[in-house]
Amino acid sequence: MRVLVTGAAGFIGSHTVRALLKDGNEVVGVDDFNDYYDPEIKRKNIAEFLDDARFKIEKADIRNEQEMMRIFKKYTPERVIHLAARAGVRPSIKDPILYHDVNVNGTLNILGAAQSIGVKNFVFASSSSVYGGLEATPFCESAWPLNPISPYAATKLGGENLCRYFHEQFGMSTTCLRFFTVYGPSGRPDMAPYMFTKSILEGTPINRFGKGDTKRDYTFVEDIVSGVVSAIKTPLGYEIINLGNNQPIELNEFIGTIEKVLGKKAKINELSEAEGDVKITYADIEKAKKLLQYNPKTKIEEGMRKFAEWYVGSAHTIGSELVKEEIVQI
Ligand SMILES: NC(=O)c1ccc[n+]([C@@H]2O[C@H](COP(=O)([O-])OP(=O)(O)OC[C@H]3O[C@@H](n4cnc5c(N)ncnc54)[C@H](O)[C@@H]3O)[C@@H](O)[C@H]2O)c1
Repeated sequence: MRVLVTGAAGFIGSHTVRALLKDGNEVVGVDDFNDYYDPEIKRKNIAEFLDDARFKIEKADIRNEQEMMRIFKKYTPERVIHLAARAGVRPSIKDPILYHDVNVNGTLNILGAAQSIGVKNFVFASSSSVYGGLEATPFCESAWPLNPISPYAATKLGGENLCRYFHEQFGMSTTCLRFFTVYGPSGRPDMAPYMFTKSILEGTPINRFGKGDTKRDYTFVEDIVSGVVSAIKTPLGYEIINLGNNQPIELNEFIGTIEKVLGKKAKINELSEAEGDVKITYADIEKAKKLLQYNPKTKIEEGMRKFAEWYVGSAHTIGSELVKEEIVQI
């Protein structure tokens, strides 16, 4: 298959490219290498693929409709995995227009370009944040109504609706995958696993919002990518599918796991609850198991060990002042 991956140089994007190449596919990556976090990290993420003749990368902004049409016509991909987005809940509250522009208008451009060249299957990266403050757990795809409580979450719900429209109007198969707090090697420097690991190793305090009793369904990146690859191989019409771990972990327990992995205690800076943060994310993964044979295997301690090994071996060589925003818990 020739697969076009947007956001290919990002955290989940680069793992997805690796898995697709390993599986024998050709991959066209699209990424604008913006400075939401240090673009040097993104260049490092894709460095290992550059010698592979089956991999091409285009530096381009998904908001540029003509540029997207040019790229789609040039490579004529059979399938598209659309991961490019402005990610993160709290920064979206500060700059909702940017988030809407990239995540909704950009998604519309990618859907339009894909439809115009007859793409057979389109996978869209949605987010557990669309469930908002839903109280019934685990979160099931059929839950309704949804109450996204941040601009970021609202843009992801908008993207899902555009995918549904393109399926109904043009018959293009579109699958929206709702990712639950993804972590692992190459993890984003604005996310809790990276920030907490960095703080503990450097002996600086962790900013903990609230009492530490919020829960997140942390999901290891290779488990997520197994679901993404399965979804791109399997046109399903129009579906929304959770990709999570089905094992939510309390923030304090998560910090304890990192302390155990690093063999060092954390210093905690207690702050009040953050706007836009939900109390819990918890994925019902029955649909993913049935439709995608999805079976997440990685326990949090094992996953955080792999993350810490990567962090110690690689991240600190990139630069120490990577983080522009506060900790993000998607
Ligand atoms: N990491 C998570 O826990 C998580 C959870 C839920 C959903 N998601 C979604 O998964 C996707 C990938 O997330 P990630 O964690 O790998 O983030 P990331 O920021 O590492 O990757 C996103 C990539 O998209 C690129 N990009 C952003 N705007 C662009 C634009 N206008 N044009 C072209 N490229 C652009 C960025 O440069 C980056 O490389 C995103 O859609 C995100 O919303 C992630």
